[in-house]
Amino acid sequence: MSTFRPIRKIVFPAAGLGTRILPATAVLPKELMPIIDKPVIQYGVEEAVASELTQIILVISPGKTIVEDHFSEHLALEKRLEQRGKASLLDGLRAVVSQIHLSTIIQHEPLGLGHAVLMSHALVGDEPFAVLLSDDVIDSAPPALGQMLAVYDQVNSPVLLVERVPGDVVDRYGIIDGEPLGHGIYRVKDLVEKPALADAPSDLAIIGRYLLTPDIYPALQETGQNSSGEIQLTDGLRRLLQHRQVYALELDGVRQDTGNKIGYLRAILYFAARHPDFADIMQTFVQTSQSPEATD
Ligand code: G1P
Repeated sequence: MSTFRPIRKIVFPAAGLGTRILPATAVLPKELMPIIDKPVIQYGVEEAVASELTQIILVISPGKTIVEDHFSEHLALEKRLEQRGKASLLDGLRAVVSQIHLSTIIQHEPLGLGHAVLMSHALVGDEPFAVLLSDDVIDSAPPALGQMLAVYDQVNSPVLLVERVPGDVVDRYGIIDGEPLGHGIYRVKDLVEKPALADAPSDLAIIGRYLLTPDIYPALQETGQNSSGEIQLTDGLRRLLQHRQVYALELDGVRQDTGNKIGYLRAILYFAARHPDFADIMQTFVQTSQSPEATD
C-alpha cells in the first residue's frame, strides 16, 4: 500500500448551467440559490470546514465569478451594517470565510464533471483530495465528508459516498456494484454512469462526495470524452479500478438534491422544519395545508 497522505484540499465543481432550475438560474448561479438564508454552496463549504477541509478550490465557468465573491470579505457591507447595529447578521458567513483558503479555476468549456476535476490538477498537485458537488446538500452528524475521511484513514484509497435510490431514478446517477464489507462500507467492483434500470448493477448511487487519490488524473486523461463530448468522473474511476481498490460508504444522514425544482423545494421545507425560527410556523403550515377544516 502506498504511503498514507492526509486530505487537505477539496474541489467544488461549480461550472454547470443549472438548466433544471431555469429561469431562476438565467443570471444567478444555482450554487447561490438560497435555502432559507444561505446559498446552496455555503452548506457544502460549511460541511468541508466541519470536516477540517479548508483549502477550497472552486472550478467555475467564466460568467460565475460571483460564486467566488460570496466567499470574499464584504467590507463595505459590514461597515453599513455596523452603522445600523446589525453587524451580527454576517457572523455566520464571516466565520466560514475566515476559516477557508479559496482558490479559483476557470473551466472555459463545459466538458463534464471529469473535465472539471482534471482542471483542478494544477492546484491540487500530487496529493489526495476531496470533491464535493454542492447540489447534494447533506444533513448529518458527523458531517458526510467526516464519515468518509474516517474510512479513508483506514483504507488509504478512494472513497465514494453512496445512497440507495428508487429504481426509477438510477438512470440519474453513477451506480456502483459493491461487495459489502460491513459498517456501510463496500469494495467497489464496478461502477457505471447513469445506467438504464435493466443495466444497473445495484441501487447504490454515488451522491456528490468523493475522496480521491492523485492517480485519478491520469485515469481521467486516458478516459477521454464520451459520445456526448464529456469526460465523466465515473468513467475515470472505472479505469482507476483496473489498478487500485476503490471503496464506497453508505451515507448515515439525509441528502437533498437541490439541483432540480422539486428537490430544491424539498430542501427548503426540510431545513425550515428544523430551523429554530421556523419550526413552529412550518408545523402549523403543514397541518393547515393538509386539512383545511383544522383551521375552522
Ligand atoms: C453527477 C455524477 C453522477 C453522480 C451525481 C450525484 O451527475 O456524474 O455519477 O451520481 O452527480 O449527484 P450530475 O448530477 O452532475 O448529472
